[in-house]
Formats: sequence, structure tokens, C-alpha cells
Amino acid sequence: MNPFVYRNDALHAEDVPLARIAEGVGTPFYCYSSAALTGQYRAFADAFRGTDALICYALKANSNQAVIRTFAQLGAGADVVSEGELRRALAAGVPAGRIVFAGVGKTRAEMAVALDSGIFQFNVESEPELDTLDEVARSKGRRAQVAVRVNPDVDAGTHAKITTGTKENKFGIDIARAPEVYERMRNRAGIQAVGVAVHIGSQLTDLAPYRAAFARVRDLVQRLRADGHPIDRMDVGGGLGIAYGEDPAPAISDYVALVRRAADGLGCRIIAEPGRVMVGNAGVLVTRVIYVKVGAARRFVICDAAMNDLIRPTLYEAYHDIVTVAASAPDAVPSLADVVGPICESGDFLAQGRSMPPVAAGDLLAIKSAGAYGAVMSSSYNSRLLIPEVMVAGGQFAVVRPRPSYEELLGLDRLPPWLNEPGDRAIPSRPAMIGGRKMGAV
Ligand code: LLP
Repeated sequence: MNPFVYRNDALHAEDVPLARIAEGVGTPFYCYSSAALTGQYRAFADAFRGTDALICYALKANSNQAVIRTFAQLGAGADVVSEGELRRALAAGVPAGRIVFAGVGKTRAEMAVALDSGIFQFNVESEPELDTLDEVARSKGRRAQVAVRVNPDVDAGTHAKITTGTKENKFGIDIARAPEVYERMRNRAGIQAVGVAVHIGSQLTDLAPYRAAFARVRDLVQRLRADGHPIDRMDVGGGLGIAYGEDPAPAISDYVALVRRAADGLGCRIIAEPGRVMVGNAGVLVTRVIYVKVGAARRFVICDAAMNDLIRPTLYEAYHDIVTVAASAPDAVPSLADVVGPICESGDFLAQGRSMPPVAAGDLLAIKSAGAYGAVMSSSYNSRLLIPEVMVAGGQFAVVRPRPSYEELLGLDRLPPWLNEPGDRAIPSRPAMIGGRKMGAV
């Protein structure tokens, strides 16, 4: 569903005019639609009906606890890649028994926390990691349930920075070596191999690479079982793409049908780790135009959101639709513009050479498909404050992450004692703990 539609020439999020939120919280801000989140989860759950698939929402796409809880209340699990994400999932109400911990560089400390919480599964990406997990689990008298993430050497055909399934990537264990690796795991006290995991990349708009990768995983599951390994889980990762502009994306139902076929007859529990498709089109970034500058060669629409708020356009050459919040006149003549932020870098753009209707200082713009990998990848570069996140449900809206204050931003730093000056005011004085000893006010 598309929750962002014009009514009376004003762009709404569900039943709330975005301009009203802008008045209430200021700009820029992210806005998420609860109905759209719910709709995406249900589409997955419906397509998996009749199987006991576990849909582990990949928190990395958007880890606001309001988003996580929306999914958790519908029965979702979580795919986490750090202690921070694990804590967020638990805090938002995801049961530990539905949490999968992935990632190439889990530390001992992270493994320990995850083992203590009793998570469902570790997706392990290398042999040194297997040995470490075995050791940490044994030291706790626990046995970690493990799926090895295999690298099937399939090119997902996506942007180079988000493809993960080829031999050149740091991810997973070469599928050809997998039987040997499972052999090494046999009879270990701290780990039990229960599954095979795969994830070939993100923003896939073609299902063919999935078909190829899942066929290889299916063969591997059969081979491992023949070797006597009790494999009963198949983790198919995430990566399903969304429509950012006019290029269509596959339907969730088609993707799930493909997954079901790949697992057909194996009797494996399917684990899916969708991220972007769950949240991407459920969010927009709303920004206000500060100036319109007509340069020698181009028109620049300078707005108050920047690359630090949404880095995807400059990092991945990603396309995000940009629309005016007040519908433009039907006879408005569009012309090319660069939509840029105030940051001191030429890479600070949200769109380049984009056909845009006439806009003026003070106008609001909505950058679409910004619910995934938007807020989570933002920073306070140029000492800009992280921007608020708002969630809408029907006619209500709530701030689900407030804009921090400048005091909070500045208060993150500490001056070392040798730089202190009497009467220092610029940095709020708070006692700092150094090495467990209280070190006076800094
Ligand atoms: N599972 C694993 C093991 C992953 O590495 C990822 C994403 C997912 C699941 C979820 O993938 P999704 O369904 O969201 O495609 N920042 C980039 C995307 C990075 C994706 C990293 N891994 C972007 O803005 O496009």
C-alpha cells in the first residue's frame, strides 16, 4: 500500500497532512506509516501461511523501537548484527527465541550477551568465528544453535556496495567448502549446526539470482543431511528490492513462492530476514526549501535535509523520488534541478539533474522511499542535529525519536583536564568517570 497520497492538494501520511507534522516538529524529519509497516509484514506472513516460517525483520534497515515493536506485535522475529541491535530488539519486545544474530565480526562480548539472552540462532561466517563461538558457549555451559552462512558465488546484480554473494565479498563461507566446515563442527560441545544460511545482496529486483542461490543451498542441505548432520533450518536472508521510482520490484508473494519452492519437501523451518522491503516505502523524509539558487549551469534547490540525514543518493547513486508536499499546479512547467543540502561538500545532494516543478523558499518537499537505511545511516556531520522520527497511525502521529538539543550534542564531548579553563561554559560540566575513578568536573 502507498500511505502517502494527496488529499485536497496536500500530501498526507495516512490521515495526517505532512505539513501539519512539519508545523509541530519542525523540519527536516522522517515520517513512517504504521499501516504500511503492518501491510508489509502481513504480506510476508500471508505468503508463508501454512509453513512455520520465522520472519526475522532485519533491524539494520530501521531500528527505531516503534518500528520494531510494530513488527514484534505482529509476531515478527529480528535479525540483528550487533549488541546494540540485540538490545533494541529485546527492548522493543522481540522474544529472544525469535532473534537471529548475523554479521562477520561478532566479538566474544557480543556472543556472550547473545548466549545469555538465549537467542534462537547464530549465523556464522567464518571458521575462526565458529571456534570462538564454541569456546565462549562452552565457558558458559551453553550450546549455540548455528547456521553457517554460505557464499553461493551468485552475482545478485545490484550495486557493488550492497552485493554480497560472490567470491570477492567478505561474506560467508565458500559453499564448496561447506561440507568440510560442517564436519569440523560435528560433536562440539559449544555449537550445534542446525541450519544453512545465505544472503546474496540487497535491493534485488530480479528473482533469478535468488533461484540460483537457493537451488545451491537446497543441494547443500540434502548433502549435509546425507552426511548425518541434523539440518532443519534454511535461512534465506533478505535483499528483496523495492520500487524507488518507476522501475518495478517483484511482489512479496512471488518471492515467497520461490522460497517455498526451494524449501519444498525438505521439512526445514524457513527463516527470512527482510529489511528494506518491510520499511522502505513506509517512510518519507520531509524537508523545507531554504533557498533556490540559479547557478550558471543549474538550478539548485537548497533544503534543510542533507547527506548526513540521507546518505543513499551520494553513497550508492541511489534514486529517491522527490515530490512537493503541496501539490504543484497542473500547468506547472518542470525543469532540471539539483536538490542539495547545506553541507560543505559537492557530494551533498539528494538528487541531481532531477526534473522538478517550480519550488520556492519555504516549500516542503517529501523524499520518498526513505524508511529503510535512512535514519539509521544518518550522522551529525557538520554538527547538524540528528533529525526527529515520527510515526503516523490513522489520524494520529507521535514523535518516536525527538530531535536532540544542542546541549546534548555538545555534551557528548569532554575536555581533558589539561585544557580546562576556569569558568569554562561552552561544555556542560558533568562528572566524568575515568578508569572507575571520579575525575572532577570536566
Ligand atoms: N540479512 C543480512 C545478512 C544482510 O546483510 C542484510 C542487509 C539483510 C538481511 C537485509 O537486507 P534487505 O532486505 O534490507 O535488503 N545500506 C544499504 C543496504 C545494506 C544492506 C546490508 N545487508 C542501502 O541503503 O541500500
